[in-house]
Amino acid sequence: MRPVTLLELTEVTAFYGPVQVLDTVSLSVPDGGAVGILGANGAGKTTTLRAISGSVRSGGRITFDGQSLHGLRPEQVAARGIAHVPEGRGTLGQLTVRENLRVGAYRRKDKGVAADVDYCLDLFPQLKERITSTASTLSGGEQQMLAIARAVMAKPRLLMLDEASLGLAPSTGKSVYEAIRRLRLDSGIAMLVVEQNANLAFTLVDTATVLETGRNVLTGTSAELKGMDEIRRAYLGG
Ligand SMILES: Nc1ncnc2c1ncn2[C@@H]1O[C@H](COP(=O)(O)OP(=O)(O)OP(=O)(O)O)[C@@H](O)[C@H]1O
Ligand SMILES: [Mg+2]
Repeated sequence: MRPVTLLELTEVTAFYGPVQVLDTVSLSVPDGGAVGILGANGAGKTTTLRAISGSVRSGGRITFDGQSLHGLRPEQVAARGIAHVPEGRGTLGQLTVRENLRVGAYRRKDKGVAADVDYCLDLFPQLKERITSTASTLSGGEQQMLAIARAVMAKPRLLMLDEASLGLAPSTGKSVYEAIRRLRLDSGIAMLVVEQNANLAFTLVDTATVLETGRNVLTGTSAELKGMDEIRRAYLGG
C-alpha cells in the first residue's frame, strides 16, 4: 500500500516582522513516517516547525490530513493532532512529573490516560523514579524525556521534536533516541524531527531534508544522505 501523506508543506515562507526567514520549504511526512530536518544554525529548522504550529506568520501551503492549517492558532493546530516539543524543551517547572503528564492529556476525553502515563514511565524509567519531583529539579536529560512524554500524552498523530539531543551528554542523547525509536514502533506516530546531530537523526528517520537559508537544498532517504560526501563533511564529522 502506498503511504498516505499526513503532513505536506508546499513552498512555505515565514516571516519575523518584515524579515523573511523561510524562502521556500517543501516537505512531506507520510502517515506513520519519520522525517528529519537537518541544517546549520540559522537555516530555518525551528521556524519550519513554528510555521506548522502556527506560532510564526507563514505563507505557502501547509496541509495536515488533507486540510489546510492556514490561519490556525497554536492551540487549534494542537487540537488537530500535532504535538510540538520545542527547542529548549518546555515543561512546566513548578509542576511534578506526574502533573506534567496529566496536563499533556488535558484535551483527551478517552479512558486511556492512566494507561498512557504507565506507558510513558515504562518508556522513560528515569521519570518513574522522579514522579513526584517538580520538573524544574530534573536534569536536562530528564526534562527532555518529560517534554517528549508530555507530548505523547496528548496522543498526537504527528510529533514534532526540535533538537531533542541538544545539550545532553552523548549517552543520554542516545538513550532519548532509543526511546523515540521504540515509541515509533509501538505507536506508529508520525514524526518530524529537527536534529543537529545527523548521526542520531539517521537512526530514526526514513528520509530527511537539508535546509540552507530557508530553502531545501537536498532531500533523500537516510541511506542516500549518509552516503553523500557533503553530508558526511557537514554533519557526520568526516
Ligand atoms: N524571533 C525571531 N525574530 C527575528 N529573527 C529570528 C527569530 N527567531 C529566529 N530568527 C532568525 O531566523 C532565521 C532562522 O532561525 P531558526 O531558529 O529557524 O534556525 P534554526 O535552523 O532552527 O537554527 P538553530 O540550529 O540555531 O536552532 C535565523 O536567521 C534567525 O536569526
Ligand atoms: Mg533551531
